[in-house]
Amino acid sequence: MKIISEYIDKNKNNYINELKDFLKIPSISTDPEYNKDISRCAEFVKNKLKDAGLNNVKVIKTKGHPLVYGEWLKAKGKPTVLIYGHYDVQPVDPIELWDTPPFEPTIKNNKIFARGATDDKGQAFMHIKSVEAYLKTVGSIPVNVKFIIEGEEEIGSSNLEKFINKNKTLLKCDSVLISDTALYDVGTPTLTYGLRGLCYMEVEVIGPKKDLHSGSFGGVVANPINELSEIIFKLVDKNGRITIPSFYDDVKKITYKEKNNFKKLKFSDKKFAEEIGVSHLSGEKGFSTLERIWARPTMDCNGIIGGFTGDGAKTVLPSKVKAKISMRLVPNQDPLKIAKLFKKHIKTLTPNTVKVNVKHLHGAYPVVTPIDDKSTIAASKAMEKVFGKKIVFMREGGSVPIVPVFAKQLKAPVVLMGLGLNTENLHSPNEHFNLNHFQLGIKSSAYFFEEYAK
Ligand code: BES
Ligand code: MN
Ligand code: MN
Repeated sequence: MKIISEYIDKNKNNYINELKDFLKIPSISTDPEYNKDISRCAEFVKNKLKDAGLNNVKVIKTKGHPLVYGEWLKAKGKPTVLIYGHYDVQPVDPIELWDTPPFEPTIKNNKIFARGATDDKGQAFMHIKSVEAYLKTVGSIPVNVKFIIEGEEEIGSSNLEKFINKNKTLLKCDSVLISDTALYDVGTPTLTYGLRGLCYMEVEVIGPKKDLHSGSFGGVVANPINELSEIIFKLVDKNGRITIPSFYDDVKKITYKEKNNFKKLKFSDKKFAEEIGVSHLSGEKGFSTLERIWARPTMDCNGIIGGFTGDGAKTVLPSKVKAKISMRLVPNQDPLKIAKLFKKHIKTLTPNTVKVNVKHLHGAYPVVTPIDDKSTIAASKAMEKVFGKKIVFMREGGSVPIVPVFAKQLKAPVVLMGLGLNTENLHSPNEHFNLNHFQLGIKSSAYFFEEYAK
């Protein structure tokens, strides 16, 4: 292990330079304009897996963006780890709020700034480098590894899901290792054992067949924006409870023990509020902040498109409006069932003066992973060694849609070894990744292989 660790130290600057090249590719999955960059990025990952010394490396076409696969299966009698990550990134808007261009990686205060730095290029790259460290020094890895790096995580992973269902033998493994979550705090070794699910909807409210003069028609025709606002307002009550009938039916209450574990983490509401720039927190009454983020469902409007939004004023009664609304879900809620309940409820809330269309865009199942599996124990030992501190177990409010699919289809425990921070601006301007955590992540991955092989 000493050779591996020294090799990782020695190559620190090379790793950063290579990561920079990875981050320069604008692999935005949701915008077809970047399809060429997506392909280029898949090729980049392919070459990195090859250079690391993996076998059977290939770019696999799907109906959407390509997957990248690679393996090293020469550790006879040892367990197999499937490593997952995503090379796609979120759009960069609002671009004017970036201090440095999103695809020109820049280092400041030992942090690398670029879209995808922490989510998830930097984190996925750690495992490629840890495998490489083994193969370039001792020439073997203590366990068998398979890589699957996808390009559609940020748009729901539907093609990877199909691929998994059809390729269970290829992907067969004893555990899945993923770094696409966060540390509890700077320098705190952390494993995440729960992710919320997601149900993402689009609601369109349609009024008159064209925009109208708000003087000639205001007062006699329902305004779609006003009506939609009222619908949105009614989705959550004064106590922060979602009003959809049966919405909470399948929600699993957290145990007293888990509640207590959350409490032990000594979370500061005040510090948290300060960090995000609000004077007070809000949300469902009767639950702590960590409970609300990790173990309670939510309803949020993500955006509204409609009416006049330019500079100055224009008196107009808009013909239609659209809202993007998402719900974060917790075990054992089912996103498909929730989408149906949502649709039905929106219809009952809509007055007969307007029409409404409700679309289900995408989603993810919530998941809780086992914390007593051999792989989790190995991961916690590895991180404790590398960080020199005791491991913290936490849940996460965000979603990684493919995690429950791995758990269900491959019947394998998933280890969520995230090295990001929730303050690293993922999905927002000035995304960055702490380079100290990057280096610690490469080592944690390397130690994990050693621990898990025991
Ligand atoms: N890596 C994130 C998930 C995440 C978010 C982990 C926050 C830790 C903290 C992932 O890439 C992501 O953004 N997921 C989406 C899923 C969606 C687009 C289907 C999410 O949670 O919104
Ligand atoms: Mn991610
Ligand atoms: Mn993301």
